[in-house]
Amino acid sequence: MNGYRIRTAEERDIDRLTELDALCFSMPWSREAFHQELCENPLAFYMVLESEDNVIGYAGLWMILSEGHITNVAVEPAMRRKGLAELLLRELFQQAGDRGIQRFTLEVRPSNVAANGLYEKLGFVVMGRRKQYYEDNGEDALILWRG
Ligand SMILES: CC(C)(COP(=O)(O)OP(=O)(O)OC[C@H]1O[C@@H](n2cnc3c(N)ncnc32)[C@H](O)[C@@H]1OP(=O)(O)O)[C@@H](O)C(=O)NCCC(=O)NCCS
Repeated sequence: MNGYRIRTAEERDIDRLTELDALCFSMPWSREAFHQELCENPLAFYMVLESEDNVIGYAGLWMILSEGHITNVAVEPAMRRKGLAELLLRELFQQAGDRGIQRFTLEVRPSNVAANGLYEKLGFVVMGRRKQYYEDNGEDALILWRG
């Protein structure tokens, strides 16, 4: 897609990712959590999506043996429904695949219509449910797998 760039996330992205998370999630990650993920966690791999040098989305995973455990996916609210999360995740799958990842999994709220639609489009299927997984409202988590 023209005008967008996807690259590996770096330490310099931490402030913007913290800001973006606060816009996108009811339980956003702290700056320290992003620091841990980008600078200290050897299993973590994150990519950012830029438009005109401004980070407008990100996605990441933990690489555990041949499995990719997706931790977060987010696109700035004003930039949604343009196919950008799909673009970002397809690139993440490609890059993770190059690093030996064969299957992907994640947890999602049943009430998150946008995310469930996205994951279904990308070939994820529901394989289980964790009861009362989310601390803020006690909502269950659906466990999805792809590949
Ligand atoms: C989920 C999220 C990342 C989707 O980002 P996006 O860039 O708008 O998604 P895309 O435009 O790439 O959509 C790809 C597909 O996902 C589905 N989808 C996306 N938004 C949707 C919505 N609001 N309702 C229904 N389906 C939706 C559609 O199938 C869409 O394909 P289509 O446009 O051909 O119909 C975004 O809504 C977001 O950041 N939400 C807040 C953070 C979050 O909940 N992350 C997931 C945590 S598990």
